[in-house]
Amino acid sequence: MPTRRQFLGDSSRLALAASIGTLLPLGAQSRTAPSDKVRIALVGCGGMGMGDLENHLKQPGVVCAGLCDVDQKRLESAAARVEKMNGQKPTLYKDFRKLLENKDIDAVIIGTPDHWHCLIMVMACQAGKDVYVEKPMANSIAECEVMVKAARRYGRVVQVGQQQRSGKNWQEIVAFVQSGKLGKIRQVRLFGHFDYGMGAPRIENSTPPSELDYELWLGPAPFSPYNANRLHGVWRHQWHYGGGLLSDWGVHLLDIPLWAMKVEGAPQWVNAAGGIFVYPERQIETADTLNVSYAFEDWTLTWEHIGGSQTGLYNRNYGMAFIGANGTLVANREGWELLPVMRDNKYIMEALPPQKSAESNHEAHAINFLECIKSRKDPACTVEMGYLAAFYAHMGNISYRSGTRLKWDASRQNFGENKAANALITPEYRAPWELPKL
Ligand SMILES: NC(=O)c1ccc[n+]([C@@H]2O[C@H](COP(=O)([O-])OP(=O)(O)OC[C@H]3O[C@@H](n4cnc5c(N)ncnc54)[C@H](O)[C@@H]3O)[C@@H](O)[C@H]2O)c1
Repeated sequence: MPTRRQFLGDSSRLALAASIGTLLPLGAQSRTAPSDKVRIALVGCGGMGMGDLENHLKQPGVVCAGLCDVDQKRLESAAARVEKMNGQKPTLYKDFRKLLENKDIDAVIIGTPDHWHCLIMVMACQAGKDVYVEKPMANSIAECEVMVKAARRYGRVVQVGQQQRSGKNWQEIVAFVQSGKLGKIRQVRLFGHFDYGMGAPRIENSTPPSELDYELWLGPAPFSPYNANRLHGVWRHQWHYGGGLLSDWGVHLLDIPLWAMKVEGAPQWVNAAGGIFVYPERQIETADTLNVSYAFEDWTLTWEHIGGSQTGLYNRNYGMAFIGANGTLVANREGWELLPVMRDNKYIMEALPPQKSAESNHEAHAINFLECIKSRKDPACTVEMGYLAAFYAHMGNISYRSGTRLKWDASRQNFGENKAANALITPEYRAPWELPKL
């Protein structure tokens, strides 16, 4: 796995290195003494935010000091869940800026839709909080870059919610790939043929419900009239809030080959093709069908998703295959197996039947974050790792949306003369919100 120094130290790698090299090292003081309690707060009390919060609250010495949501019903239901879980009554907030003013809060979990991650994370770092930010780290390449700078400049511990990084199952898989037993790896295939990813049925725009502060839900995103089927849970299929299956699931799956193959920068080129081929009547902007190729000097990485299908590859609906000269390692969260490759009528290595993984990595990731809050060490998924996985996902989407093959220019931090692609690197924030400049 690349260290922060390795990742940032080579000028051929992502150019964000240049701007970060002079920043303060990680190590600003923890607000908590090693023996003290960790007072944690959640911003965004949806399915994943609550899951993350509960994994933290299960650990000894963790107190829920604040909850924040722009939907009053969700906020109240989250408060009731916390009280039932451990009897605690956190302070409730609608506006995350008020929560960040609370000096009693040590760390913040960000479980909002993706278009909010950057602003809340940067402001939390500026307020001296450590941060667990859900994946994808942000909804654009430029926001991810700002977030790397913020974490390092303010010396905060920032864990990105790519929980596989804390999973023993994935650490073993990565170690196997790196052992060389598969022989020369020529291709890694990632696939997600999920029973979702095609959005919700199209419905008319309407008036926001009284319990929702819709302005604050939209935040920096451009104004669009309220529509329930672009909101909770299904925002991920609208470009202003998410990136479809590639940035939703893609960052989890992309993260593994980037880690195992020790990738530290951009590929030689990226090319994508796809469309909304099967669900044009759904409330969806992102592709229901997408293929992306990433080229490296001596191997290729491919992503494919087919939203609304459960029929995948290698008898799995999602996962990955590391294809080596000697064998193919197939893996997903449920387990892994080895498929031997035949050469000159002989199998080069023995097959390994499916190895089941019972492990959920979420809790281990929360434990790792809590340990790092105290030790001030880098967590299992650093901002640089979150950046890299999101960068690959966003590049695939930008290639698809611009209809062009992309080559990243690390010195200019853009796609060279490709205006259509460059226009999708940085989101335009709606006033009064501004993309932080660091
Ligand atoms: N790590 C994983 O395996 C995993 C799995 C699912 C989702 N996620 C990520 O978790 C995040 C949340 O996803 P979800 O499916 O729970 O979404 P969701 O829509 O169910 O929940 C998001 C919540 O954030 C609230 N919110 C929106 N703007 C807010 C603001 N400004 N301040 C406070 N609250 C605000 C919404 O009202 C909603 O309650 C996303 O980034 C998603 O990609 C990660």
